Order: sequence, then structure tokens, then C-alpha cells
Amino acid sequence: MTRNFPDSFLWGVSTASYQVEGAVREGGRVPSIWDTFAHTPGKIAGSDTGDVACDVYHRYAEDIEQARQMGLGAFRFSVAWPRAINQVGLDYYDRVVDHLCQAGIAPVVTLYHWDLPQYLQDAGGWANRDTAYYFADYAESVAKVLGDRVAIWTTLNEPWCTAFLGYASGEHAPGVRNQAAALAAAHHLNLAHGLGAQAVRAVLPSAKISVSLNLNVARPVTDSLADAAATARVMRVANDIFLLPMLEGRYDPQLFDDTAAITNWAFVRDGDLAQIHQPLGVLGVNYYSPSYVSFQPASQSNDCFPGCDHVAFAPAKPPLTAMGWSQEPSGITELLTGLARRFDGLDLMVTENGAAFEDVVGADGLVHDPARVAYLDAHINAVADAIDAGAPVRGYMLWSLLDNFEWACGYSRRFGLLYTDFASQQRTWKDSAFWYQNVASTNCLS
Ligand code: FCB
Repeated sequence: MTRNFPDSFLWGVSTASYQVEGAVREGGRVPSIWDTFAHTPGKIAGSDTGDVACDVYHRYAEDIEQARQMGLGAFRFSVAWPRAINQVGLDYYDRVVDHLCQAGIAPVVTLYHWDLPQYLQDAGGWANRDTAYYFADYAESVAKVLGDRVAIWTTLNEPWCTAFLGYASGEHAPGVRNQAAALAAAHHLNLAHGLGAQAVRAVLPSAKISVSLNLNVARPVTDSLADAAATARVMRVANDIFLLPMLEGRYDPQLFDDTAAITNWAFVRDGDLAQIHQPLGVLGVNYYSPSYVSFQPASQSNDCFPGCDHVAFAPAKPPLTAMGWSQEPSGITELLTGLARRFDGLDLMVTENGAAFEDVVGADGLVHDPARVAYLDAHINAVADAIDAGAPVRGYMLWSLLDNFEWACGYSRRFGLLYTDFASQQRTWKDSAFWYQNVASTNCLS
């Protein structure tokens, strides 16, 4: 069945600075928490680091050309805060935006995709409220340079990961394990979003502001009341902790009760919620797979879900991707239609979706990745289902343009449409890249 997408639908790809840029010591860039973390023994698979990554800092023009050949209308990338602290760094992003515009590709900018300057972490990082104010200053300086060429300004990428993988489970930089600090970090990220949005708008009054959230599509394992309550608890600390302050200017009092044994939330100050609650031009939605939740009588700590000690997460259901994630396209339909119902009038955009598989370059020099094509086809169909059901989905940004540094997994997981040979930095179009080129240039799935 051929499925057409709305006329102005934006097809794009997503990348993030630390995952692709490399050149960590060039242009006056200062160390980030990911430099420190990646260079700490035992933190990253294969002891990989982002020192060189895909060398996009030097190869951005060629990569943008690949995106142009793919027929893409948008390119989501992040600005590295530790680079943008000086003019050389700002000039670099100025050139990136120029190249995108010349290629007819709309720049979708993320201001924070996890690479906090290390000097701010030394002062407490996101557990320190001051970081939110520094973020607003940084956002203002980027807005002044990139100006109205930017189609969408995304304040934060996946603040859940920053707060809970960074400060609770410690799987991500800065590797802190403290649930109270993680909840404070979540609030300070919310504040950073609100202050950052205002800072960008002060420079660019008509800027389209966004934030990309990895909302948890939590499904109860049974239809028991206990499993429903466990699922609701997960959604409060994974989703509503960001959605409600940003979109409605409030926290759910139940979230405070759930986490009362961990913190008294004194870090929420008078006036904060009004600062956080800023008009959003579009909400970015990142989706990979759902989770299955049940009530668990015996208490066990779920590090990244504070207040969920009686919650069990079921193992992922096969078929799995190379990340060990299940493949359930219905989750993205459920997520998009659920958001559309809950937040009337809010535009949505898929800002990440994709899959890692064990790709190899064949003897013919090609990369056949039928599993990725199947994943993408099923998920983009599921996005079309959401649009048919009335969800205002404005675009789809695929993760990712090219294989890159996949955080704690290093280079062992390949998400790209382009295969990256990390030794030579050669890019090879996978079958999925040709497939996506067809989707993007025809604006339909066939
Ligand atoms: C998301 C991140 C992104 C990438 C994908 C696979 O959580 O935002 O940088 O690593 O997962």
C-alpha cells in the first residue's frame, strides 16, 4: 500500500556533537563530561572515546552533501557547548548552518545533547541550579550567531537520560549514582529549558522552540490494578516530570509523594514553574521501543526510576536490535496519538527513531541491511497511522545519518544510514540509505 505524507512533512536525520564531531582539542574547545567519562577506564565498551568519532568537525561539508543527495529536507544536529564558548566554535556552527541552507536543508539545532563543559560539572553540573542560568547565557550566544536561519531550536535532548542515566544509574557521564541529585538535575534541566527558550526568543522573537523527550511507552504486563499503578508510577517519573512543567507549568503532586523518601523537592523555588512553562512550537519525540511494567511485591531499587522500588521491568521481547531493544512499531503510534489527545493543539515531530544492527560491508562493497529497512518501514508506517488518527506530526528525523559513537557502547553499535569505516573515515551508503532517499524524495512509503 502506498502511503502519502502531508505536503510540508519534513524528512531528516539526527546527529549529536560528541557522537560525530571528534576534534576534541581543536578550536579552543574545552573538555566535556563525555571526554572525562570516556577516558575513565571501564566506562565505555572497548575503551572507545569520541576523540575522533566520525571527524565531522572536518567533514561536515561532505556529510551535508550526502544528506542533500538523500533528498532530505531537514538535518538535526547539536551544538557542542564546550566548543561554542568561543568565537572559533561559534563560527564553525555558523558555517554548518550556511552549508545546510545552501543545500536547501532546514537546520534543526539541539542546544544540549549531553556534552556539558567539564568545568560546570566540577561545580556540581545539573545538580547545581546555576547550570540552568549558564545554559541560558550559552543559548543566547548561539541564537545571536545562527539567527533566523534555524528552523527549530531544541533546548535539550532527552533530559531523562541526562538526569537519570547521568546522575542516578551512572551509566552515562558524569557517572554519578545519587537519586536525590538526579531529581534535582531533572528540575534544573526543566529550568534550563524554560530559561533557554526565553533567551533564544529574546534574540529571535519568532523562533520555533522545541525540546526532544524520550518518553517511556510503558505498558502494564497484565490488566491488574497493581500493574496499572506501577505503570503510572513509571510514567510520572519518566515522562510527566518533564511534560507537565514544560507544557502545563506544574508537577504532579503524586510525583512528590512517590519520591518523598528520596528528596523533599526544596530545589523547586517560587516562580520556577512559570519560567519553565514556555510556548512550544513543536514537541520532539524520540522513540525506539516500549517497556513492560509490573508490580513487584519485594522492594528492589530501579536506579533510574526513583520512587519505583516495587516496579519490575520485563525483559525485551524478540526480535531484538543490536542494542537488545524490542521492535514494536505500535509504540510510536500509541505515543504520538496519546500526546495529541493529551495536549490539544501541540505540533509533534519525531526527532529520533532508528535501529542498530550488525552491519558489514560485503565483498561487493555494499552494505545490505534488510533488518533496518524493515524496522524503518514498519515505524514510518506506524507514524502514518498516527497521522491518519489525527496526530499533528510534522516530520521524522531518523537516528542517524551515519554510524557514530554510541555513548557507553562506543563504536560497537551501528545506527547509521551511512556505514562509517572508522579507520579511513570512508562513508558507504547502506541499502537503508537508498531506501530512505526514496521515501524522502517521493514523500511517500511504497
Ligand atoms: C538516544 C540518544 C541518541 C542516540 C540514540 C540511539 O537516546 O539521544 O544520541 O544515542 O539514543
